[in-house]
Amino acid sequence: MQQLDTGDTAVLSSLELYGEHVGEPTAAIYQRFFAKYPEAEEMFAHDRPTEERMMSSVLMMISDLADHTTSAQHSIFWITDHLAWDVSRDMMFDMFEMIRDTIRDGLGGEWTADMDAGWHDLLDHLKPAMDQQIAELEGYRSGPQAVS
Ligand code: HEM
Repeated sequence: MQQLDTGDTAVLSSLELYGEHVGEPTAAIYQRFFAKYPEAEEMFAHDRPTEERMMSSVLMMISDLADHTTSAQHSIFWITDHLAWDVSRDMMFDMFEMIRDTIRDGLGGEWTADMDAGWHDLLDHLKPAMDQQIAELEGYRSGPQAVS
């Protein structure tokens, strides 16, 4: 298996430590998310099981990115249906930041500089792939562009 760098190992440790010392992050993440985007709670139709299934997929995706089981390119397929459901780019980007912030705040003094750097790198890798996918889909949405 490929050797993981310090940052990726630190991301995995942060998730593991949170699980051991704080518990399940799902409720805290959605609390943060819905405080900023109250309309999103309506978009989920207040359906907790769906929210929970989604968050376990999102957290799994972050672990798979950190341990290189998957790549950024293979982690953006869900954007197609989310855009169709009117989930905004800001919501998508903020969700990942809010997951990181929830883990960081929950770990408190156990959060390390390596974790900070590892999360920063992971999100820095993912965001351009997300942006490209969103731009392509928005191009389709607005119809064929005139070629001059
Ligand atoms: C705000 C309104 C949103 C709604 C209504 C919504 C809805 C859903 C639904 C219904 C699923 C399928 C869950 C299942 O039954 O397995 C899903 C999956 C998922 N959502 Fe969302 N979502 C929202 C926002 C977001 C945001 C902001 C992100 C950004 C991280 C996101 C990322 C994902 C991912 C990665 C999956 C898993 C896809 C898969 O593995 O199949 N969603 N979402």
